[in-house]
Amino acid sequence: MGGIGAPFTAWISPFRGGRGGVCSSNCNHILRPSSPITDLSVKSIDDLTEAEASTELHRLAAAIAQADIAYHQNDAPEITDADYDALRRRNEAIEQRFPQLVLVGGPSAAVGAAPAEGFAKVRHGIPMLSLGNAFDDADVADFVNRGRKYFEKEFLRDPGFQLYFTAEPKIDGLSASLRYENGVFVRGATRGDGAVGEDITENLKTIKNIPQQLKGSDWPAMIEIRGEVYMSHAEFQRLKAHSAKFGVQEFVNPRNTAAGSLRQKNPEITASRNLDFFAYAWGISEDEAGLAQPPAATQTEAVQKFKEWGFVTTPLMIRTESKDDLLAHYTMIEAQRATLGYDIDGMVYKLDDLELQRRWGFVARAPRWAIAHKFPAERATTILAGIDIKVGRTGALTPVARLAPVTVGGVVVENATLHNEDYIAGLSNDGAPIRNGVDLRIGDTVIVQRAGDVIPQIVDVVLDKRPADAVLFVFPEICPVCGSPAIREINEKTGKVDSKRRCTGELVCPAQAIEKLKHFVARDAMDIDGLGDRQVSQFYEAGRITRPADIFALKARDERAIKKLKDVDGFGATSVKKLFDAIDARREPELDRFIYALGIRHVGETTAALLAKTFISMDAFRRVAIEATHAEGDKHAIFPQIGGIGDTVRASVMAFFANDRNIQALDDLLAEVSPRDYIVTVTADSVVAGKTVVFTGSLERMTRMEAKAMAERLGAKVAGSISAQTDILVVGPGAGSKLKKAEELGVEVISEDEWFKRVEQ
Ligand code: IVH
Repeated sequence: MGGIGAPFTAWISPFRGGRGGVCSSNCNHILRPSSPITDLSVKSIDDLTEAEASTELHRLAAAIAQADIAYHQNDAPEITDADYDALRRRNEAIEQRFPQLVLVGGPSAAVGAAPAEGFAKVRHGIPMLSLGNAFDDADVADFVNRGRKYFEKEFLRDPGFQLYFTAEPKIDGLSASLRYENGVFVRGATRGDGAVGEDITENLKTIKNIPQQLKGSDWPAMIEIRGEVYMSHAEFQRLKAHSAKFGVQEFVNPRNTAAGSLRQKNPEITASRNLDFFAYAWGISEDEAGLAQPPAATQTEAVQKFKEWGFVTTPLMIRTESKDDLLAHYTMIEAQRATLGYDIDGMVYKLDDLELQRRWGFVARAPRWAIAHKFPAERATTILAGIDIKVGRTGALTPVARLAPVTVGGVVVENATLHNEDYIAGLSNDGAPIRNGVDLRIGDTVIVQRAGDVIPQIVDVVLDKRPADAVLFVFPEICPVCGSPAIREINEKTGKVDSKRRCTGELVCPAQAIEKLKHFVARDAMDIDGLGDRQVSQFYEAGRITRPADIFALKARDERAIKKLKDVDGFGATSVKKLFDAIDARREPELDRFIYALGIRHVGETTAALLAKTFISMDAFRRVAIEATHAEGDKHAIFPQIGGIGDTVRASVMAFFANDRNIQALDDLLAEVSPRDYIVTVTADSVVAGKTVVFTGSLERMTRMEAKAMAERLGAKVAGSISAQTDILVVGPGAGSKLKKAEELGVEVISEDEWFKRVEQ
């Protein structure tokens, strides 16, 4: 029985040839010229059509990103500096000619770029704060009452005393701080982390309603005007329509697009994006002598002044002492929300009197004197135009609503998840009615909800509007992709019918095959760099990769192929070589990763690790699983009981190995790759044996999964949270509440380096 229950063998570093930053034989420190140029890449920029320019920008973005990673992250440049500069120059020149095509997050964006390329940092003289939230009327009443209580004495002293509040829309954009010296705009910055932002002066200068020179003369000698940069719906639609023509899909919503437009390096692009600015607050405000000089005595007057100085301010601000007025204004603005022409996500209430603001003060990073009253998740009414079926990795058929496009919270929604066939019929997973048991029919008027970034949902049907010819949806009983029967399994234990119908086609089903391949190469599975969802689909469709084994045969086949991969659109000699290297680098995967990558239903990372730990070698796992599958009588006698692995997983593993096609695919794969045995160290010798360890923060030398595996191999127990039982907390940068708790409980706290020092002794 191979390794099962075998005595523990010696410690072997889990990082051998792995991703821990150690250079494998595939590392390449030699400067090579860039890939041969395709026709488009030599075409003069002046001759490029818009569509060609778009293709070219994508190619350049990929090439520059690859070079950046090689240079900055791997310290292994793949192209010469001159070639790199040429790529960037070409990218810039094309961007300049076609500013509308600039890719958000592309090479000219600051995000993720090399530090030298980034924006200069600006420390805010006065921090840019965030706001506390109110979610309902009661929260607003609490806020107003807190103010009244705080200024109780004023009310007693002066019977005429009133606390006035302003109410104005909360603009869903990006805040910016604009510094004016002697009325002239000199510098503008993003909010950043509140204390330090980025210098985006040149970009802000292109926003037409930001004055370069303040009007009038009663402004402080130095003032930082703060407000929100945003993109109007009209502008967003214009850009989207434009990008649709060229298949560019980066415009998710106006706020992200505004952010992308502002935080990139080419002011001409910002200029081409037509952003707007509302002024609503200020930072430092000083007279010539450098003494504080507030712009006015109240919030209302300050905003009035901003308007006089040439800023656009909200026309939707009121001032009142009544909580009910605040709420009435909220309701009124909420009703107008869809027609305002820009996104707002709530209202902001502020104490009007600046002196009282000062006295009321701040908590942590938000003022006590202001609060944001959020709007609930947005809903919209639209028509259910059709229902499509998506087939996932495990064959589950998921219905997706095709909707007449509707804007919900600034995002155009065209699809919503419908979960499963019971959901369409008006039943929840446990058979209880949802939407009062009303089913969904094609042609129905439905209410779509979008909360934050979650997938839109259909929350209701407007029955009154159901047309006579609304079509009942008959859920397919055969897979729409491969034609295999799609069945609803019955859970043997509970006797319940699975809510999902599943395609039984397994690997003959292209949809399942593609999803399985995507899972196989994913970061938490085999982690093959350069083989993402897009490439997997592309290779599948071209017949280059249909099963995992094909990935590892890709290079050998390419050598024999007439049409080489390097000549395929979107690839070049360099990227192909990189891809082949990345594939070769994973020919000896860790056993737990490998098992997880197989995509056996119900076998997640934790289960895969348990299986690896139990069987130690792939060979043992495969052999025992097959034996158990074919055993007469008690399969359990052969397949061991494993703590943490229940009947569902066991049955699923058996089902996987009962299928000859799976075994064939696995064996073909094992002819190409050799999963490393899962080595367990002699735990008694380890300094951390028997200890309970927690990892927190972003670890730099290992992934979380590796950290956990390593600690477990050393006989330690890994916990997810700190308690009195915790012995050691290993912290990486950015550790938060766990670190605090550990300190409170007196738990030993060590760095990642210290951890390595200890365990490597
Ligand atoms: S006042 C000290 N007013 O909301 C208070 N903020 O959640 C400073 N925001 O970072 C903020 N519209 O980006 C204020 N009318 C408005 C606003 C507004 C949008 C944003 C701002 C801030 C965030 C806080």
